[in-house]
Amino acid sequence: MDKMTIRDFPLKDRRVFLRVDFNVPLKEGTIKDDRRIRESLPTIDFLIEQGVKLIIASHLGRPGGKVIEEMSLEPVSTRLAQLTGKKVKMAPDCIGEETRRMAMSLAPGDMLLLENLRFHPEEEKNDPGFSKELACLADVYVNDAFGAAHRAHASVEGIGKFLKPCLAGFLMEKELKYLSEITGNPKHPFVTILGGAKVSDKIKLINNLLRKVDKLLIGGAMAYTFMKAQGIPVGNSLTEEDRLELANSILEKCREHNIQMILPLDHIVVDDRDGEKVMETLDENIGEGRKGMDIGPKTISTFEQQIADAETIFWNGPMGVFENDLFSEGTRKVALAIAASKGLSVVGGGDSAAALKKFGLEEGIDHISTGGGASLEFVSGIPLPGILVLTDK
Ligand code: 3PG
Repeated sequence: MDKMTIRDFPLKDRRVFLRVDFNVPLKEGTIKDDRRIRESLPTIDFLIEQGVKLIIASHLGRPGGKVIEEMSLEPVSTRLAQLTGKKVKMAPDCIGEETRRMAMSLAPGDMLLLENLRFHPEEEKNDPGFSKELACLADVYVNDAFGAAHRAHASVEGIGKFLKPCLAGFLMEKELKYLSEITGNPKHPFVTILGGAKVSDKIKLINNLLRKVDKLLIGGAMAYTFMKAQGIPVGNSLTEEDRLELANSILEKCREHNIQMILPLDHIVVDDRDGEKVMETLDENIGEGRKGMDIGPKTISTFEQQIADAETIFWNGPMGVFENDLFSEGTRKVALAIAASKGLSVVGGGDSAAALKKFGLEEGIDHISTGGGASLEFVSGIPLPGILVLTDK
C-alpha cells in the first residue's frame, strides 16, 4: 500500500485522534450489529499496546447537526469496553473545554470516546474551524473509518490539514487491500453479481469494471429495467422508466467488451390480480399483472455454476426482497455459493452484508466491506476523501 499505516510511524506516548465508523444499527439503545466496532479492534488494541493516549471519534446516524439523545455514542462506549476489556472514558461532546480537559489528562494506554461528531453541523460542512478544534486534541491522525471515507467531512478530510501524519488503521488497510484486488488486477474468471433496486446506483461501478470483469450476473429489481429495455415483459415489476436507454447502452458496452451479462432466466413473482399469489415463472417473461420479487430456480443454478467457476467474485446487492422469507431464496443461494467458492470473494454494500449475517454465512467470505456507499464509490473508481487525506509513504 502506498499510504502510511500505523505500523509506519513511532506512536509511543503520542496523543492519537482515531476516526472510526461506529455508525452501528441501534434499537432502543441496544446495538443490533457490532461488526463495525469489532472490525476496528485490531487497530485499537495495537494503539493501546503502543502506549498511545487514544481519542476515538465517530458519527452515529444522521442527527442533522443537533443533539439527539438516541444517537449518543454512549451504548457504543459500553460495548467497546466489553470488547476490549478496558475502561472507556466517555466525553460529553467532541469539542469544548471539558472534552479537551479529558483528552489532555489521558495517560498512555487510556481510551476516550468522543460524543457523536454529527451533533455539530460543522462536521458535515467540513468547517475548517471545527476540524482545527478536533485536531487540537491530538498529535497524530489515524483513519480507520472506511465506511465514512466517501464523506468530505471535518473529521474525515478537513482534519488532515491540521494534523500530520495521517495514518491508515488496520481496517482501512484491509478494506483497501481487498477492494483494490477487485479494481486492480483481478484473477480470471472474474464474476460480479449485482442486485438491488436501481441500475442508476450501479452505472459508475459497471463502467469502471468493464475492462476487468468477465461475467456480470444481474438480479434484484435492477434486472427488470434491463429486461424491459430489451422488450421482455416485466408486468408490474419495479423499473426505472427513465433509465431504459442507459440500460441498453450498458448492454451494448458489455457486448463490445466481450462481457457476458446474465439476466434472470426465471423469477419468483406475486400475481397482483390473484390475491397476491406467489408463483414461479416458466421463463424470463414475468407477464401481465405480476411483479418480480426474486430470481427463480433456473437462474439460481446458472448463477451458482458461474460463481463456482470464478477465481474472483464481487457481490453488491440482493437478488430479491430477501427480508421476506418468501423471496429470500435467490439471495440465500447466491450467498451460499459465494461462501462456498474457491475464488477470492469480496462483498460490498449494506444489504449484501445484512443478507450474509441473516443466513449465517459471514465466515465463508474473504472480505465483507464495512462500507456501503464507500465500497460502491471505491469500486466505481471515485477517489475517496478519507483515503486521499492519508499521508503517502
Ligand atoms: C454508512 O453507514 O454508510 C456510513 O457510516 C456513512 O453514513 P452516512 O451515509 O450517513 O454518511
